[in-house]
Amino acid sequence: MIQLINIRKSFNGNQVLKGVNLHIPKGKVTVILGPSGCGKSVLMKHMIGLLVPDEGRVQVDGVDIHRLDDARLNKFRKKFGMLFQSAALFDSLTVGENVAFPLVEHASFSKRAIDDRVQECLALVGLQNIVHKMPSELSGGMRKRVGLARAIALQPEIILYDEPTTGLDPLMTDAINHLIIDTQKKLSVTSVVISHDIEGTFEVAHKVAVLHEGVIVAEGSSRDITGSSHPFVQKFLSKRS
Ligand SMILES: Nc1ncnc2c1ncn2[C@@H]1O[C@H](COP(=O)(O)OP(=O)(O)O)[C@@H](O)[C@H]1O
Ligand SMILES: [Mg+2]
Repeated sequence: MIQLINIRKSFNGNQVLKGVNLHIPKGKVTVILGPSGCGKSVLMKHMIGLLVPDEGRVQVDGVDIHRLDDARLNKFRKKFGMLFQSAALFDSLTVGENVAFPLVEHASFSKRAIDDRVQECLALVGLQNIVHKMPSELSGGMRKRVGLARAIALQPEIILYDEPTTGLDPLMTDAINHLIIDTQKKLSVTSVVISHDIEGTFEVAHKVAVLHEGVIVAEGSSRDITGSSHPFVQKFLSKRS
């Protein structure tokens, strides 16, 4: 589904990605683990064409995405739903308007069809009767769920989650992890989750990859990662509570 081939990326001489190779399997949950600042968000932005690699290629369904012109890239992005790290809701829009945003922007649905889809997506993330609320009235966990409802509005084939549980309490972290699994099961999408929540990772992941110093140092099932003899992976896992 998504193939990252020897991705290198520097910012002002600081090489963040030093040749990342990773295969993201279709219809599964892949989790990318790594410490803060190691380049996880940078890597994810390459998958959707928000960043262009200095070297290497990103293929989605066999298409080299950096060869697409702007119009094609825009169309291609409809395959993706992205839940940004901060949830990134529009604070001046209601919950309903936030979820409706991609539908209004990218497709020609009737007002009625949009309202129905908004209700449907909010129901999928377990939120009802809050369409008229403002984001400022919601808890952190609810905001993330509204962000997820918006990310699935256009029925994406691929959902990218950038640290969906960071900053949430353990109960809400659990709820979001279950939501990731549920969404996966209900919509059979390809999911990529960036995380430094090790416990939650092992619960949701079909595949785990560990990013360290610009390369993938371990990948495989949760069990493969637990059994990895790579010193960094062992050190990272030993921080488990
Ligand atoms: N647009 C950018 N311009 C310059 N430096 C950047 C940019 N985006 C990310 N970086 C740098 O790349 C490194 C990795 O960042 P990031 O991918 O956000 O880490 P994380 O693993 O926490 O998501 C950091 O040192 C960050 O400062
Ligand atoms: Mg990040």
